[in-house]
Amino acid sequence: MNSLAGFIAGIPKAELHLHIEGTLEPELMITLGKRNGVSLPFPDAETARKAYQFNDLQSFLDIYYQATAVLITEEDFYDLTIAYLTKAASQHVRHAEIFFDPQSHTNRGIAFETVIRGIERAVVEANSSLHISTKLIMCILRHLSEKEGLEIFEKALAWKQWIAGIGLDSSERGNPPEKFSTLFKKAHHEGFFTVAHAGEEGSAASVRKTLETLHVTRIDHGVHCMEDEELVAELVQKQIPLTVCPLSNVRLKVFETMKQHNLKAMLQKGVCITINSDDPAYFGGYVNENYLEAANALQLDRNDIIQLAQNSFIASSLSTVHKQLYLHEIERYSGNQSN
Ligand code: ADE
Ligand code: ZN
Repeated sequence: MNSLAGFIAGIPKAELHLHIEGTLEPELMITLGKRNGVSLPFPDAETARKAYQFNDLQSFLDIYYQATAVLITEEDFYDLTIAYLTKAASQHVRHAEIFFDPQSHTNRGIAFETVIRGIERAVVEANSSLHISTKLIMCILRHLSEKEGLEIFEKALAWKQWIAGIGLDSSERGNPPEKFSTLFKKAHHEGFFTVAHAGEEGSAASVRKTLETLHVTRIDHGVHCMEDEELVAELVQKQIPLTVCPLSNVRLKVFETMKQHNLKAMLQKGVCITINSDDPAYFGGYVNENYLEAANALQLDRNDIIQLAQNSFIASSLSTVHKQLYLHEIERYSGNQSN
C-alpha cells in the first residue's frame, strides 16, 4: 500500500450517500435467494458480478430493483445493514447517513415495519459494537407518483423517531423535482432533514430547480452543476454540499473515465464536495476505493483528502457538537500521520 492509500484507509470519515439496497453483495443475494426460495436470473455470485455492466442509470436501476426481491424478512434487512456497517467501520467510516427505498419493498408486499425494524436493529447494534453513528434517510422513488410517495411518507410518520431525513432517488430523467414539491413541503413541516438526487443524469438546470422547489440541504451527485457558472457560485456562497460518488459516475457513464471526473475542479472552486460509494456492491468499491481511485486519477494530495474528510462531517446532519468531535479526530489523525 502506498502512503496515500494508507492515509485514505485510516482517516476518519462520514459516508453521506449510500443506498442500503445497493450494498447487497452478490454472495448475500444468492444466500438470501436460497433462504427465501426466490429465484434469481444469476446462478451464482460470479455470474451476477459479470452481469453488472451498465450503459446508464436506468440499466443499473433495472437490475438493482430486481435484486431487492430476495429481501423478505426483518432478518434479511438486518443482515444487509450489519454487513454494510461492518465494512464501513473497517474503512474508518465514523458516521453513515443511510438511504433506504421502502417503496421498492412495500410494493412487493413487504411491510414497512419489517424493513425499518431490521435496519434499525443493525444500526443500534453497530452503534455500540462498531462505534459508528448512523442516521436513516428515507428515499422517495421519483419514477412513481407523488401520491404514492405521500402514502409512504404518511406511513413512515409512525416510525419518525428512527428516521432523520427524506430523500429523492431513482430515474431523474422525466421525473422533475417539482413533481414532489408538496411532499417535500410536508417533510420540512415535520422537521426532517432533506436531500435529493439531482444533476446525475440531469443537467445543471435540474440541480437549480431542485434547490428552488424542494429547498433541500444537500444535493446527491450534482456533478452537472459545472455547466452553469452562476449555480456553482451559489453552491460555493451558500456552501450547499454535493455528495459525489466517483465510481458510480464512471460505471454509469456520467464520465467516461475517472480522469475526466470533475470533482477536483469543483473542490478547487470551493464547492463543499464529499466522496461516497452510492451502491458499492454494484460499482466496484466502498468509500475508501472511491477516495483512492479518484485520488490516483486526479492526483489528489493529502490536503485534498483531509478537506474531503472534513467536508463529509461538515455536510452531515449531525449537531455542531458532534461535527466538532469528528473534526478533532481528523486533526489528531493528520497530526499523528505527519510526525
Ligand atoms: N438509487 C440507487 N442508486 C441510485 C443512483 N445512483 N441514482 C438514482 N437513484 C438511485
Ligand atoms: Zn444515489
